[in-house]
Amino acid sequence: MVIDGVTRPRAEQKSKEDKIMINMQAIEAAKEKFGKLLEQQLQRVEEMKGQGDFIDYKALDKIIIGVCGGDGIGPAITAQATRVLEYLLDKDIKSGRVEIRTIEGLTIERRAAENAAIPPAVLEEIKKCHVILKGPTTTPRKGDPWPNVESANVAMRKELDLFANVRPVRVPELGIDWTFFRENTEGAYALGSKGFNVTEDLGIDFTVTTTQGTERIIRAAFEYAKANGKTRVTAVTKANIIKTTDGKFLDIFREIAAEYPNITADDWYIDIMTAKLVDEKRRTEFQVFVLPNLYGDIITDEAAEFQGGVGTAGSANIGKRYAMFEAIHGSAPRMVQEGREKYADPCSVIRAGAMLLSHIGYTKEADKLYKALDICTVTERKLVITGRDTGATGEEFTNYLMETIEKL
Ligand code: IPM
Ligand code: MG
Repeated sequence: MVIDGVTRPRAEQKSKEDKIMINMQAIEAAKEKFGKLLEQQLQRVEEMKGQGDFIDYKALDKIIIGVCGGDGIGPAITAQATRVLEYLLDKDIKSGRVEIRTIEGLTIERRAAENAAIPPAVLEEIKKCHVILKGPTTTPRKGDPWPNVESANVAMRKELDLFANVRPVRVPELGIDWTFFRENTEGAYALGSKGFNVTEDLGIDFTVTTTQGTERIIRAAFEYAKANGKTRVTAVTKANIIKTTDGKFLDIFREIAAEYPNITADDWYIDIMTAKLVDEKRRTEFQVFVLPNLYGDIITDEAAEFQGGVGTAGSANIGKRYAMFEAIHGSAPRMVQEGREKYADPCSVIRAGAMLLSHIGYTKEADKLYKALDICTVTERKLVITGRDTGATGEEFTNYLMETIEKL
């Protein structure tokens, strides 16, 4: 039997003393690994302590927008989103104030070949930009032909310290107007690929909550509420059971909430919260949510479903120096295998582009784009995308979208 690459005899064939010995060795080996993880996390805490304020895009002479196509339908749909950005930013691109830069190589083939979540040379290019628009990237699963590289999303969030995952969900006809602030670098994801089997029978994963990491996401949620006239911020945890890490998140939430007396702060447990989102009477009362990573991952898929599914949602990953905007759906490899990528719906990544525009200060352009998306996908719908040749291509739809913007 092989545990972490070491072949060991089967425990049941051993005497009691041998078993105790084997377990002790396993515990020692685990302690050493755990110690290394703690060192890295404490190092991260120190880095967070030294962090300055958010970058001020207005003060930059030039803003560089990097575009990573990703895998599957990613290149096809991000190409359409790029056209929209080029169209809306035309004047500032010509004047040199904005550059849109294509970044090649964030593909599963290259990531597999280099056995890296993000190939180092690609990461270097990404770090030369200010904001990134990213298409979906493949995360290998057991049974896939790829080595088990870490998710590119998760790696990029960590590498660029994109701690706030902001996911708006709006369904005006149902009275739903929610904004989720999902913590994006800690919780169950911080060491998601660093858990290990201590013995063949005992697997351990870790959840991480730091004071600095929690303060910054909770503050971001309250600041957003304050700036956008929201009157309520809701924390979601499972602090009754996950007492240390979720408990810390909730304590810090209460401390920071006290600094915002005009905003109602309440907290819910994740299980009942998932139920309340389908409670038609109660759900319209919620406005801004702040929550640890894994709960945020789960509940934002549920929330997006009311809006028409994850394919309709865009997602902003914001840090102090960098920000990345992405579609939250997958790379749909089957569409590519069947030669249907030109029929793939670019709306989610275009919506991510609208979030990018508003983040870097082009709010007028962003508003136009949101409006046009509403017209083209809800009220007018002159062209419909079906994902097949029964509907419009992404290019045709994007032409329609740009013509609609032109008329606004
Ligand atoms: C998301 C996705 C990612 C996540 C996956 C693709 C790693 O589900 O952005 O919500 O779990 O965060
Ligand atoms: Mg998810």
